[in-house]
Amino acid sequence: MKGMTKVVFPVAGMGTRFLPATKASPKEMLPVVDKPLMQYAVEEAVAAGMTDLIFITGRTKRAIEDHFDKAYELEAELEASGKFALLEIVRNTVPDNVNCIYIRQSAVLGLGHAVLCAAPVVGDEAFAVMLADDLLDNPGGDPVLKQMVDVYNYHRCSVLGTMNVPREETQAYGIVSTEEGQSGAVQRMTGIVEKPAPEKAPTTQAVVGRYILTQRIFYHLRNLEPGAGGELQLTDAIASLLKEEAVLAHQYDGVRYDCGSKLGYLKATVEFGLRHPEVADEFADYLAARSLVSKSEKK
Ligand code: G1P
Repeated sequence: MKGMTKVVFPVAGMGTRFLPATKASPKEMLPVVDKPLMQYAVEEAVAAGMTDLIFITGRTKRAIEDHFDKAYELEAELEASGKFALLEIVRNTVPDNVNCIYIRQSAVLGLGHAVLCAAPVVGDEAFAVMLADDLLDNPGGDPVLKQMVDVYNYHRCSVLGTMNVPREETQAYGIVSTEEGQSGAVQRMTGIVEKPAPEKAPTTQAVVGRYILTQRIFYHLRNLEPGAGGELQLTDAIASLLKEEAVLAHQYDGVRYDCGSKLGYLKATVEFGLRHPEVADEFADYLAARSLVSKSEKK
């Protein structure tokens, strides 16, 4: 059985929650310690067996293409000055067997539209969708997309990565309902709704930025009417898909940092800083000293 190889990264979004940093730079290129968010997502995809990386990109996003391309001048400089460890880091942003494919989404019409832009490249196979500003971390265990590919390989149907959120936050997410009487991390879905108000949300189980979808999703995306926010919503196409095919919610093992928000980004920076070989010890000392400052002293 040939494994899944294609992953779609919708990266055309504007990143308004991070202005002014994202005025001219992609939000996906914000670094957590020393690695851009985009590279964390690519590494998670590669660890799950993906070899065709399809970026749905847009204006101001060219830095992403450059990041995964060869950097001749930089590599020559590093080689000439004997900085071989850095040279390896620069050369290894993607393994040699991986293809990067870029499609420009000229109008930002929503996540559903972005995924639909990938249809000509995806063809007839199931594929993954990853939102790079959701940084998913599972130290010591399988990366989240790998967990989901395993679920797909067993059940052969669409799988969404989900987690429980506080009820007051439901309007930031796609919220799923599952069949009653099921237990365990993988459950069959009965519905999904985009960004419901807390009092209207059917549950508090939220979709994070990881999806495995069968190619049938393209049929539903093509027939979609604009939904929440006037955008073509992937969530609405999934709601329509699950009327004809099984769609599973997988409560993954791991921690999610919402790096599209300032607070989530800061938390990720602290956690990844505390395990970065170069800075971990001194950073831990700094934080320990810093936490002696009481709340009332904060500016
Ligand atoms: C998107 C999806 C939403 C999902 C979320 C996860 O929303 O539309 O269903 O729960 O990503 O991060 P966005 O955060 O792009 O508004």
